Amino acid sequence: MSKKIKIFDTTLRDGEQSPGCTMNLKEKLVLAKQLEALNVDIIESGFAIASPGDFESVKTIAQNIKNCTVASLARALPKDIDRAWEALQYASNPRIHTFIATSDIHMKYKLRMSPEEVLERAVSMVKYAKKYCSDIEFSAEDASRTNLDFLCKVVEEVIKAGATVVNIPDTVGYTTPDEFFKIINHLKLNVPNIDKIDISVHCHNDLGMAVANSLAAVRAGATQVECTINGIGERAGNAALEEVVMGLNTRKDFFNADTNIITKEITKSSRLLTSITGVGVQPNKAIVGANAFAHESGIHQHGMLAERSTYEIMTPESVGLSTNKMVLGKHSGRHAFEDRLKTLGFNLSKEDLDAAFEQFKILVDKKKTVYDKDLEAIITKESISIPQ
Ligand code: KIV
Ligand code: ZN
Repeated sequence: MSKKIKIFDTTLRDGEQSPGCTMNLKEKLVLAKQLEALNVDIIESGFAIASPGDFESVKTIAQNIKNCTVASLARALPKDIDRAWEALQYASNPRIHTFIATSDIHMKYKLRMSPEEVLERAVSMVKYAKKYCSDIEFSAEDASRTNLDFLCKVVEEVIKAGATVVNIPDTVGYTTPDEFFKIINHLKLNVPNIDKIDISVHCHNDLGMAVANSLAAVRAGATQVECTINGIGERAGNAALEEVVMGLNTRKDFFNADTNIITKEITKSSRLLTSITGVGVQPNKAIVGANAFAHESGIHQHGMLAERSTYEIMTPESVGLSTNKMVLGKHSGRHAFEDRLKTLGFNLSKEDLDAAFEQFKILVDKKKTVYDKDLEAIITKESISIPQ
């Protein structure tokens, strides 16, 4: 039986930290409802102490979302945890997500704390949060650059203190799939009772490996993946939810894992986010880009017309698109051309088809894409007889 990987969506928190992607309360609530329809397991609704607006968003989402766990971020400080709880108390399934950095570089230059002080703070703040709710996530910020023995110690102690989820972030997008696999595997083999909690991963995309690193971690035993719609987030963004989910879904044979995501809601979620923020995705973006299911080359189109699985590893329908796109351009061949004409209602004789195809090939050298109206113009201009 394949194992279920929990999807922790942080579009409303880490995603919102991406320049140009801030959202107001109404927009956050609309998106949270769509995340609920997408069936994510956890919605990180914001960072309650960050601003009065963020507090209101966390509170409103906690009051309105019933089918997902709702989380708020909090530094490992009593005042942050108090504020997170003040907003989260209305949630059916609240989670406090507290974090502190554990890498030498962060402890020395940012926190100005010794490893012993950081360990003590992590433990005491997990215990402090535990007085409010049972579901506590602890994140060791910059975990992938943390001394592995120290990371094991921190993880072991926060589990003892009551953490139900331990998150291993690749905060600066520095790790690689092999290395991250080894880190998660090492934790699994060396931390007592780690199998009693969820191991989460949270990967940034600075080297373009956030999704690959997340999936490598799943192979090593991670049970929760943190990600955002369209991969928005700090700097180069976070692991893209749609890529993680469809990666697991399409390669169940390899990962032996799946998620609870209703994949048909993916396109809608992506487009909703784009319309709210005004920040689009590149056309060749996996899963949700305009060209993700478009086929232009004649060889590909010919294969697709014969059998879709020749060039389609997942169907557009599975992510909520009604159909794939056969783009007619200079690489397209006769098969796709004839097929499109038939769809438009033109059943041409062989001679007429030859003549029209010749005109089409002249046109594609002048125009990047040929639309249906161009085809109609070719047929009309050439006075090709249209059989009734
Ligand atoms: O990237 C990161 O380390 C974070 C933590 C707060 C989880 O966003
Ligand atoms: Zn992050």
